[in-house]
Amino acid sequence: MSENKFIGAPVSRIEGALKVMGKAPYAAEFPVKNISYGFPVQSTIAAGEITAIDTSEAEKQPGVIRIITHENALKLPAGPPVTNANRMTRANPVLQNNKVLFFGQYIGLVVAETYEQARYAARLVKVTYKAEKPRINFDAFAAEAYKPEVINAGYPTDTSWGNVADALKQADVVLNETYDTPIEHHHPMEPHTSIVLFEGDQLTIYEATQMLEQTRQGVANTFNIPKENIKVLSPYIGGGFGSKLQPREHLLLTVMAAKMLNRPVKTVITRQMMQTNVGLRQHNRQKIRMGADRSGKLLALAHETVTHTAMNEEFVEQTGVISRMMYAVPNSLVTHRVFHTHIQVPRWTRAPGETPGSFALESAIDEMAFALKMDPVAFRIKNEPEKNPENGKPWASRSLIQCLQTGAEKFGWNKRKMEPRSHQQGRWLIGYGMSSASRGAPYREASARIKVSNKNKAVTAVVEMAATDIGTGSYTIIAQAAAEKLGLPLENIKVQIGDSSLPPTPGSGGSWGAGSYASAVAVVCEQLKAELRSKVNAQFIKGPSVADLMIAGNIKEYESTGTAKPSAGMANYAHFSFAAHFAEVWVDESLGIVKIPRFLTTVAAGTILNEKTARSQIMGGVVWGIGQAMTEESLLDDRYGNFVTRTLADYHVPVNLDVGKIDVHFLAEEDRIINQLGAKGVGELGITSVAAAIANAVFNATGKRIRQLPITPDKLL
Ligand code: MOS
Repeated sequence: MSENKFIGAPVSRIEGALKVMGKAPYAAEFPVKNISYGFPVQSTIAAGEITAIDTSEAEKQPGVIRIITHENALKLPAGPPVTNANRMTRANPVLQNNKVLFFGQYIGLVVAETYEQARYAARLVKVTYKAEKPRINFDAFAAEAYKPEVINAGYPTDTSWGNVADALKQADVVLNETYDTPIEHHHPMEPHTSIVLFEGDQLTIYEATQMLEQTRQGVANTFNIPKENIKVLSPYIGGGFGSKLQPREHLLLTVMAAKMLNRPVKTVITRQMMQTNVGLRQHNRQKIRMGADRSGKLLALAHETVTHTAMNEEFVEQTGVISRMMYAVPNSLVTHRVFHTHIQVPRWTRAPGETPGSFALESAIDEMAFALKMDPVAFRIKNEPEKNPENGKPWASRSLIQCLQTGAEKFGWNKRKMEPRSHQQGRWLIGYGMSSASRGAPYREASARIKVSNKNKAVTAVVEMAATDIGTGSYTIIAQAAAEKLGLPLENIKVQIGDSSLPPTPGSGGSWGAGSYASAVAVVCEQLKAELRSKVNAQFIKGPSVADLMIAGNIKEYESTGTAKPSAGMANYAHFSFAAHFAEVWVDESLGIVKIPRFLTTVAAGTILNEKTARSQIMGGVVWGIGQAMTEESLLDDRYGNFVTRTLADYHVPVNLDVGKIDVHFLAEEDRIINQLGAKGVGELGITSVAAAIANAVFNATGKRIRQLPITPDKLL
């Protein structure tokens, strides 16, 4: 690993200057001739039917071109229901009937000559409803929860081994607690946006999307358009966090309008619509039962989640999966139950499953360690599993113990007193808390095309792939991998991504982007060099650079396309990234205020492709974890089903003053199984378990155990 010149180096983003200069075009910024503007009309009830829509006043307004509602919308093929199997490539068709299933649902699109005209006219559309009482309140409907067939990403709904009930009876110390995490929203900086343009039967889409191929397939499936006729462009993206993983309804509305009007249409949704129309992380209620013997051996762990989904679609976050693999437990039960509400359908939100699940599990582990009078680091190490307890597969790599030990040392964990309220400075109660973190490290097939050219012995390369950079650094790590494997200077590499017509990749999601992209680049570079070698017939002993080969053979242009995929043996191993988090909190008990001056995390995620962008990923995850712990909560009015937290003024994300020093340490870790470069994901690892580390520190400071996030002042007073 240390022989690498470019891979791993803390290279600044190669597109950074363009972004700072405003020269990196985002999806809403492409100039398109004869463009018109769409603005959605939203329902003002959460449940019921539209009985009449009066668009006459709106239609009279200057600039209005067309108002599309279910009464005049293009009829779309009904298609199969959206399920786990097709969710990424299918969106629920829009405007196909008069039913309202959640507050803020798109019930129309006003198209006008300008954005302001469309937005103004949308307010003048008069809608009459037959409203029903919406199903909103969690407690009122949780008892209806049923067992879904399967949960998100295809994980089994329930797993069990041993006998939890019997083991709990035999345990010396037993814990039985419930943890609640509220509805949270993604809120990337860039709102969702589409520009749609038909030229004959060719469809061009500029879209803020994490996944080009899936967006293309989704539009193809929903409108019955051959996918070969669709091109999706998304060169720069202002964050996604999962909300941009699939084609969303604003895109379907825009495609429909462009088709009906035979004119390009642009739709940019508002920050308020990002609360109601592009997914959310749902409220999870998690019941944990845990038993241990006096020596600190875990005997039993049950993790049972109840959650909500929409009326018309079942999405169940895999909240309990972390409890299936984190600790060596001889008796285990992990279940998921779900009920229907008139709340928009939940969606993947950064580290789906692990983010809420780790709050419950890692809080409970801390509670158990305290009950046993054991140090929580030692308690975790004592219950480290040798193999994945769920299926007996060996870990491709698992360096959690090293993360815990290194982190504890760097943080100064030995200064912590186990007894709460034992560290005070003036009016501040000081506490230390920690947690273990893990996130699945998937790796997926990806393709790349590499073109090399030799102009007067100046050899440069272009890497082309249908990849995306959602702000994570894909451009940069792709260039680093190419420079490394081709033996060219970094500035001689050009990266072309964000275009669905390029060789396919799995896109940016599930923490698989970086490893999949970079491995594809590495494999195609090797392939290209091998092809050049046989062409040139050069007798290099070893390691010729592409420049040597091109110059030796006097080759002007050469290109190669190829694919990297998971090895046949990969499935025989368990693949996860790991980290240990340490938090210091200061609590002012009289005001209920919590400060987090210091957070330290040690990460083991295989080969780190870029020390700087990976660090930013982890820091971003920690910042969101601080938000999850302290401020973030989407609140609904049970009577009407509307979100009362509608903007960033009421949905509080952490600001600079909320975030203290964040220390990120990467441990050297070798993983020869996961992929060619040994790179595991970091994108979602950073947020996992952060809230637990903070809640555990708050307990250590105050003696108060907060099991309902966020830890707002009212809960501490
Ligand atoms: Mo992620 S929730 O797969 O963007």
